[in-house]
Amino acid sequence: MPARVAILNGPNLNLLGEREPEVYGRTTLAQIESACRALADREGLDLTFAQTNSEGGLIDLVQDARAADGIVINPAGYTHTSVALRDALAACSCPVIELHLSNPAAREEFRHSSFTAPVVTGIIAGFGADGYTMALRALLGLINTRQEG
Ligand code: DQA
Repeated sequence: MPARVAILNGPNLNLLGEREPEVYGRTTLAQIESACRALADREGLDLTFAQTNSEGGLIDLVQDARAADGIVINPAGYTHTSVALRDALAACSCPVIELHLSNPAAREEFRHSSFTAPVVTGIIAGFGADGYTMALRALLGLINTRQEG
């Protein structure tokens, strides 16, 4: 059975390409999804790719993905605000990679704290749109290691 992986995106990421391009780049979320789907097809992964602007919607997506083999999540602004999202991620037993296009640690003070970072397996930040395929590769490595172990 192919490994099931979910890539989940939080608020405002639907605007990638036009939103603050000097920070987030010009690649759209649809282009990111295509790159991820191409990699998933090559690696034989069953990929779900989703985006929502609402906090509850993102929590529902995390809960739906709990049965998957791995999750990549860009929680966007909810990284810095949401105890409820953190609790949803803490309830996942599969590996979770938190992803940011920018490097929040190098930005405004309010982005330096993350509710989600302590409950995820690892973080990829600062590599722009390429971070998504990097995260997917990292997740694949974690899933393969788990299957071997
Ligand atoms: C972001 C960083 C967050 O601080 C910000 O609120 C976002 C995007 C990133 O991908 O760099 O919306 O998660």
